[in-house]
Amino acid sequence: MSNADALIVRAVEDKSELLQLMLVVWGSHKMMIDLHTYDVAEIDALGLFTPAGQTAALASWTRRDETAYLCALHSLRPGEGVAVRMLAAVKAAARAAGAKKLKAMLTNDNMPGLTFYQRQGFRLSGLYPEAIDHYRSVIPAIIKTGYRDIPVHDALELEIEL
Ligand SMILES: CC(C)(COP(=O)(O)OP(=O)(O)OC[C@H]1O[C@@H](n2cnc3c(N)ncnc32)[C@H](O)[C@@H]1OP(=O)(O)O)[C@@H](O)C(=O)NCCC(=O)NCCS
Repeated sequence: MSNADALIVRAVEDKSELLQLMLVVWGSHKMMIDLHTYDVAEIDALGLFTPAGQTAALASWTRRDETAYLCALHSLRPGEGVAVRMLAAVKAAARAAGAKKLKAMLTNDNMPGLTFYQRQGFRLSGLYPEAIDHYRSVIPAIIKTGYRDIPVHDALELEIEL
């Protein structure tokens, strides 16, 4: 059994840790996917926790018609397989809620995320040049640079059948 197998999945009611994490890594707890904005404070969240109660990963998702949207997925234990476990839990919850596909959004800098989602079978479904620049004009706190200081301008969307 790997470390990730020992973790417990549960719904997150108190979203303060997730919201704080999003403010630090993204600059807002609102996320834009498929031309809609979702507030992570208002939609479902799931977490992976150690038996001692420490957070290993957090995710936020919602469903609109037959599509589920993954609005955030954060690993607090990089490289231990916890993001894979967290994604599996979101996919199961989305499937149980009747969704037929799951969509995610990445900013242009996010090479680890691009690797992660494609390794998990997601396919690219959209490119929105300068979408983040426009979003930043509404929410100025959105990060300006990301992975390896790459300037953040564009949104990439990926999807997978459930
Ligand atoms: C992307 C992220 C979720 C991966 O979390 P993780 O717990 O390290 O991932 P796992 O250990 O479950 O690894 C799963 C796969 O991700 C990929 N991956 C993870 N970190 C990577 C990195 N730094 N560079 C390239 N690929 C990476 C690998 O392909 C890995 O699978 P493999 O080893 O079989 O190839 C994590 O880096 C993160 O929280 N980033 C910040 C938030 C974010 O960008 N989330 C995605 C958009 S919402």
